[in-house]
Amino acid sequence: MKWLGFCAATLACAAVANAQSLTGRWEARMYTVDEGRKMALALNQQGSTVTGYMLQPNAQGIAIQNGAVNGATVTFSIERPGRGARGATTPPAPVRTDYSAVLQGDKLMMTLPTAGRGGGGMINPMEFTRVSTAAPGALPPTPPRVTLTSYTPVAYDGLAKTPPMGWNSWNKFAGAVTDKDVRGMADAMASNGMKAAGYTYINIDDTWEAGRDASGMIQSNSKFPNMKALADYVHSKGLKIGIYSSPGPFTCAGYEASYNHEVQDAKQYANWGFDYLKYDWCSASTVYANDPATISMTQQAAYAKMGDALLHSGRKIFFSLCQYGQNDVGTWGAKVGGNLWRTTGDIRDAWDSMVNIGFGQQVGREKFAGPGHWNDPDMLEIGNGHMTTEEYRTHMSLWCLLSAGLLAGNDLRDMKPEILEILTNKEVIAVDQDKLGKQAVRVSPPVPADEAATISAKEGRSTTGGDLQVFSRPLADGGHAVGLFNLSAATAKVTAKWSDIGIKGSHKVRDLWKHADLGASTNEFSADVPSHGVVMIKIAK
Ligand code: GLA
Repeated sequence: MKWLGFCAATLACAAVANAQSLTGRWEARMYTVDEGRKMALALNQQGSTVTGYMLQPNAQGIAIQNGAVNGATVTFSIERPGRGARGATTPPAPVRTDYSAVLQGDKLMMTLPTAGRGGGGMINPMEFTRVSTAAPGALPPTPPRVTLTSYTPVAYDGLAKTPPMGWNSWNKFAGAVTDKDVRGMADAMASNGMKAAGYTYINIDDTWEAGRDASGMIQSNSKFPNMKALADYVHSKGLKIGIYSSPGPFTCAGYEASYNHEVQDAKQYANWGFDYLKYDWCSASTVYANDPATISMTQQAAYAKMGDALLHSGRKIFFSLCQYGQNDVGTWGAKVGGNLWRTTGDIRDAWDSMVNIGFGQQVGREKFAGPGHWNDPDMLEIGNGHMTTEEYRTHMSLWCLLSAGLLAGNDLRDMKPEILEILTNKEVIAVDQDKLGKQAVRVSPPVPADEAATISAKEGRSTTGGDLQVFSRPLADGGHAVGLFNLSAATAKVTAKWSDIGIKGSHKVRDLWKHADLGASTNEFSADVPSHGVVMIKIAK
């Protein structure tokens, strides 16, 4: 009080008032595990209005909208480009995020609207420190968006004769993943029975990237001090290693990505010894034109640039496309060199998310899958803790019937026995890895003809087909793998009719989860299936 009184009586008061203005540049560390990574706010306060922009590393500045100061609190919103819906014919609507920050002493504490996946390693609230009091200049104008008009189809790389099996860091670790975690996963996979069951890839997802060196070669950040040594380590365990980038200038988490550096990046991955790339559209929507008439060709050509670069990188690198199923990717994914393409937005470790993606959005895509190139309903959430064991068994069964990639997304170093047993059940995995490579069809309830037409035009649509569903796929030995699913809240009898599967007479039936022969059945097979559960069988030739 004494000090305030003194201040009021002198000109110094003006300086203090000015110091309390938000105008200037503020910086905050973003991640607990990546000390170099900062977010900046460039603010200009005039009365109760704030303008300026938010700057994430490697990202273009994004203008702040509706900036308002109320006491010690500043609120504003940011609009980022939307990803667009599957089969959309209009450009995606931007996605708005509302932020709120409070001035506490000389720090600006900003609470993030979402905590981020798996904790994500993101600091929340972020603590901003002022690094300058200068009013921000105007944002540099955004260069015109690019349209690509053609590409040369990329030759098949000879990989993915069966769907990939491995582990990916995102679902459990998100932005918190480190070199140490990756080594730990390789150790676990090599020794816990997963490698023996066919799992091969240890894949680092987003947030490994730093900037580029003077010659433009991408570098890894402090979480990954030596990528070559890490790749060597994973290889020494008899496993393969994967990495992640985007066709845009930065990744979904705002890290450096491959736009205009495709050839260099592919070379760097090969130099380091990587065997797999997940290539995620994300910020590509800020540099490529989103015009509905041209976006499909533009997106294909953008993916083909990397497909071609990988093919000529000097190393066999599996190419995983991640553009959420836009622009009928099934019809062109293999043509751009893709071995796998995502068909939907991100999965969450929740029953409704798994059902929506697995049962709701895959039907109708089976015609695009086959040896060398597969549909990707996203990575596994098995063992991440928010579904029951029964539900995880349903997740695994469906993914295997759908010829999906089996990329575990949990912490392999710390797994309950029942989770390991789900991930390593050899008879169920054998369905996923069957050499014929025919993705299952939902045979009951049948997909109505009008829906089938919509599906083929739009490449999948949301339909869950009711509570009791039967999926069937033919196998290389002439038998069939069949899943009897019960999505309802109570145990129910589910029947697989031979006529739906396209077989006749009497056939031996084996329970794949229980490893038990069930004798022969004629014309149909029925089972009492627990709520949210599955009975998965093989019907012999
Ligand atoms: C997108 C992808 C996810 C993951 C994150 C990483 O959301 O769909 O699978 O790779 O980006 O930022």
